[in-house]
Amino acid sequence: MKMLTQTCSRGLSNYHMISMAISLSHSTLCVPSFSFKKQCHRSFTISTPFSSLSSSALSSKKLCQKLQPVVSALEIGGVRIGKDDVVRDDPTNNVPDSIFSKLGLQLHRRDQHPIGILKNAIYNYFDANYSAKFVKFDDLCPIVSTKANFDDVLVPADHVSRSYNDTYYIDAQTVLRCHTSAHQAELLRRGNTHFLVTGDVYRRDSIDSTHYPVFHQMEGVRVFSPNEWEASGMDATTYAAEDLKKCLEGLARHLFGAVEMRWVDTYFPFTNPSFELEIYFQEKWLEVLGCGVMEQEILKRSGNLDKVAWAFGLGLERLAMVLFEIPDIRLFWSSDERFTSQFSKGQLGVKFKPFSKFPPCYKDMSFWISDSFTENNLCEIVRAVAGDLVEEVQLIDNFTNKKGMTSHCYRIAYRSMERSLTDEEINQLQGNVREEVQSKLNVVLR
Ligand code: PHE
Repeated sequence: MKMLTQTCSRGLSNYHMISMAISLSHSTLCVPSFSFKKQCHRSFTISTPFSSLSSSALSSKKLCQKLQPVVSALEIGGVRIGKDDVVRDDPTNNVPDSIFSKLGLQLHRRDQHPIGILKNAIYNYFDANYSAKFVKFDDLCPIVSTKANFDDVLVPADHVSRSYNDTYYIDAQTVLRCHTSAHQAELLRRGNTHFLVTGDVYRRDSIDSTHYPVFHQMEGVRVFSPNEWEASGMDATTYAAEDLKKCLEGLARHLFGAVEMRWVDTYFPFTNPSFELEIYFQEKWLEVLGCGVMEQEILKRSGNLDKVAWAFGLGLERLAMVLFEIPDIRLFWSSDERFTSQFSKGQLGVKFKPFSKFPPCYKDMSFWISDSFTENNLCEIVRAVAGDLVEEVQLIDNFTNKKGMTSHCYRIAYRSMERSLTDEEINQLQGNVREEVQSKLNVVLR
């Protein structure tokens, strides 16, 4: 399931086009998973600085204190986090080893990595246009309380993003942040009025070339005082919405040059009105960010009663895939020199040259599902067995027989971006996937 894209209907009638010419390729925003646009239903997902944590997030606070980066990890731009702190054999924990291994890698803090290069280019835009007024946070701990991740930004109790199917839980009150909005309330409480938060976010999800369970977001928040909108003659909300759109249109031009864009009305629990910005790329409209005027309740609770604010959240992988023409999201995690050596500090938009295209190998598997079956659980198992050798997991057949039993057939595409895979290796992987699926998912293989 795509995050901001596929779910939810769009208020297409309400968008307005911003004319500008050309250039740009494709993109997708909040790459993985569920959408905050959904109004509700089903169950739940994440961030905080290592140095400053939400007072409400007591258990996550303790954890993060324990998880202070150690010097050796900092040397490689990472953070050391104890595995026992994150992965536990407990029903309230659903974090697999594969996710633990990504924690603290902090691609967004590497100046020579496409994600870090993009972050710096966005910083440059804000510094140049707002006289460096935006305070930047990029080392907030991704382990946060459910309060920070959901409650503080008004995510309803029955919202899909809260489910164990969609979010990684460390325990019932602690998650890996599923969005950088998890830091909004805390930073507002601390008196910040202009800030950018960049970080890794985590979502359980399907598998394809634009979805990965860890990706990066940048959150932006700007708070206005009454004197700012009063002089304009506009009401506070209109003033903030117009300022927000102007800011983000400018950012899109800064990153992409002349590009066709449009605004689409949408829904987020934490903003009203809410919008998405779409960019025309390779003959498709692609969502690149979600944003809106912050719900007054969030401001009120943070001691900003008479203020108005805007907020946005953008997906860095999606933008970087477009800007650098990176065809598969797994590449961001590659340490293959043929990938890493192609990017350098400050070089935005250097086009990635694929170093190889090895053939994919497809394996199908069919089983009778049970009521508890979910595609995200299947994908987690496939990733646990095959890691980044799995390119896509696709439902290709789905039927229910006369007895009411439902069968699913999934096609798994295996492909390495770095080498040819042998038949033997793939058969072994597929055999292991079948065994794990049978033993863990309560399904009957056919
Ligand atoms: N947190 C939202 C998401 O991840 C994006 C967003 C941020 C939307 C801020 C509005 C305001 O989908």
